[in-house]
Amino acid sequence: MAESTSVEVPEVGKSSAEETDKTESKASEEQSSVNLDDNSSAADQEDCAKNEREDDSAQQGSTSRKRKAEPEDHSAKKIHLESSHGEAVAAHYNELQEVGLEKRSQSRIFFLRNFNNWMKSVLIGEFIDKVRQKKQDIAVLDLGCGKGGDLLKWKKAKIRKLVCTDIAEVSMQQCQQRFADMRGRCRPNENIFQAEFITADGSKDLLSDKYTDPEMCFDICSCQFVYHYSFETYEQADKMLKNACGRLCPGGYFIGTTPNSYELVKRLEASEAESFGNDVYTVKFQKKGEYPLFGCQYDFNLEGVVDVPEFLVYFPLMIEMAKKYDMKLIYKKTFREFYEEKIKNEEHKMLLKRMQALEQYPANDNSKLVSDKPEDYEHAEEHMKEGKEGKAKLPLGTLSKSEWEATSIYLVFAFEKQP
Ligand SMILES: C[S@@+](CC[C@H](N)C(=O)[O-])C[C@H]1O[C@@H](n2cnc3c(N)ncnc32)[C@H](O)[C@@H]1O
Repeated sequence: MAESTSVEVPEVGKSSAEETDKTESKASEEQSSVNLDDNSSAADQEDCAKNEREDDSAQQGSTSRKRKAEPEDHSAKKIHLESSHGEAVAAHYNELQEVGLEKRSQSRIFFLRNFNNWMKSVLIGEFIDKVRQKKQDIAVLDLGCGKGGDLLKWKKAKIRKLVCTDIAEVSMQQCQQRFADMRGRCRPNENIFQAEFITADGSKDLLSDKYTDPEMCFDICSCQFVYHYSFETYEQADKMLKNACGRLCPGGYFIGTTPNSYELVKRLEASEAESFGNDVYTVKFQKKGEYPLFGCQYDFNLEGVVDVPEFLVYFPLMIEMAKKYDMKLIYKKTFREFYEEKIKNEEHKMLLKRMQALEQYPANDNSKLVSDKPEDYEHAEEHMKEGKEGKAKLPLGTLSKSEWEATSIYLVFAFEKQP
């Protein structure tokens, strides 16, 4: 493999929405590219395929192209018939089908999903390392675990105990089955963590009432792409925090990913409508200009599929609310900031490649780019011009502009429990 050394971040063309605000963060305007080569070893490919098998087919509510082609999305329709938001969330995620590797690889957002998965892997790895400096026996709470998209990450992290919990019962069954399959594939002398599965509404039920061991404490609570569902009311957001942080050991961590309210509002304000987005995602608010601290609802639509409504999480408020559970913010970073920091590490860069978290540009002779719009790769073209001047190695690894705009909505956070 020709090692790429520099991570170069060329600017992509600005959308009209983004043009209006030149003083703000460039997170949504720019896109990241790294140099990749295409000589992945067979081992790399196998590892990647394994990753894909283990990683959740439904993270972020994404589905395959086949699903997109369906005339009606029943889960979306059902949302309005459910009596509470929690029931709608459960119904929605329960109905999402598991999608095989082949179908997933045809998805328009294949790389976006892998990229998000890489972000989670790196975040989880960082905090596992921190805990491991202090102790070997690590217990983790995966709050809103979905179908178990992070099970392999916990296995690789060699933790001792995992509690998986989610509001969606079918997802929990799939998560449990996935764990059983994973355990079944272990070699005789290979250790795998103990796992417990709890179906519960983390914004309404007290999880500690449901643990097998009533004294259960965790070193890490991981809450990936979940917390925003609880910001419907103060009580729900507080209960979710209590579940996330109430049983953390002193020095334990609450880590996660959630949409960045600042970025959402910035894009909304820059839009002439009450919605914004591109061919990959759209976000639709009910009203512009008024953003209540709780219950500020918007619809998120990824790859043509309407997700359940989400709520804006005003992060300074979350920081304040977390103090009630002795939690201190370690950091909050946009996806872009986190990516730029982590990609400097060679191991992370290799993982990025193994997980196929970036698209190769230009495409191989026998493959096709996920987007057929040239403007989706203007940034990569710019980068290639630099290559001709001898500055960049080809091929590049990149995300199409549309995918980058979708992923750069999110932020990464980490809190620590004070002694
Ligand atoms: C976008 S998926 C993320 C799944 C998983 N964390 C991942 O990263 O692959 C959001 C998950 O949050 C769960 N969820 C939403 N509201 C919840 C609540 N109140 N309590 C527990 N789980 C919830 C959903 O059922 C869904 O599985």
